Amino acid sequence: MSGGILVIGSMNMDLVVQTKNFPEKGETVVGKNFAQAPGGKGANQALAAAKLGSEVKFIGACGNDYFGEEVVDSLKAGGVNTEDVHRLDVSTGIANITVEEDGDNRIIIVPGANNQLRPEVIAKHENEIKEAELILLQLEIPIETIEEIIDLAAQYETKVLLDPAPVKDLTAEIYSNVDYLLPNEGELESLFPNLESRGARANKLLELGVDKVLLTKGKQGITLYSTDKIKNYGAVTVDAVDTTAAGDAFAGGFAHGLQQGWSEKEAINFASQVAALSVTKEGAQPSLPTTKEVRKFKQQRGLEE
Ligand code: RIB
Ligand code: NA
Repeated sequence: MSGGILVIGSMNMDLVVQTKNFPEKGETVVGKNFAQAPGGKGANQALAAAKLGSEVKFIGACGNDYFGEEVVDSLKAGGVNTEDVHRLDVSTGIANITVEEDGDNRIIIVPGANNQLRPEVIAKHENEIKEAELILLQLEIPIETIEEIIDLAAQYETKVLLDPAPVKDLTAEIYSNVDYLLPNEGELESLFPNLESRGARANKLLELGVDKVLLTKGKQGITLYSTDKIKNYGAVTVDAVDTTAAGDAFAGGFAHGLQQGWSEKEAINFASQVAALSVTKEGAQPSLPTTKEVRKFKQQRGLEE
């Protein structure tokens, strides 16, 4: 691949239950609906960017099983290059997702094959890391693998976007080679629980060498922190049906915007629109919009470019 977005990360089959209310500990509730849909933060972000029109390659691991087949097919159907997906004799990762009536979710993940995406595997993909225009990462694969990718990206000066979800401790080495870190508020807080405010936490990240922090604050919009400025962007509000993969839609949309050479402002506003649209539909991958759908939404709502 030359140019384009390289996503290295997880792929899961999402097993989604809809319920009026989450059960309490020891309680049983009767759910409303069950659905199965391809997911995984890595695969979702790859598909998000590809559906918007970017050239995207995905490196990940899944099983030689039915779920693996389905997740690979979903990526392919959206135009993602999947030739570097490793099919292993281990179960495909699954995510057990419960969605409440207001769209909130709770997720339990069993990583399966995602845990086999080890640094040794990444070493085989050095050329992809070198050739990519930017790399988009999340934390559903082993942290040693993230380190290896970041090392290689630094060596070849490939831009790195990291969505620290689900949160894990990150090393100084990782922080210092990230161009954009994309936490939400909960993640930012978990990274530095001892610091008092979001500003202090974002500054800590900049001190550690992250180039820019793009903090998503739900209905409160987005803040971009860099050493010389802090900028705020408004949220795009919609009636939430299912917030699963909203963060992935945002990350994929932002990566797409950067890859198109748009300004940060344009890429951020666009990413918010992509995320908002994804929240209006059920499921992770089935809820990701195309550029055409985003345009239509923008017109209907009279939103800013
Ligand atoms: O970000 C949403 C994703 O998180 C779901 O698709 C699920 O697979 C989990 O990885
Ligand atoms: Na959704």
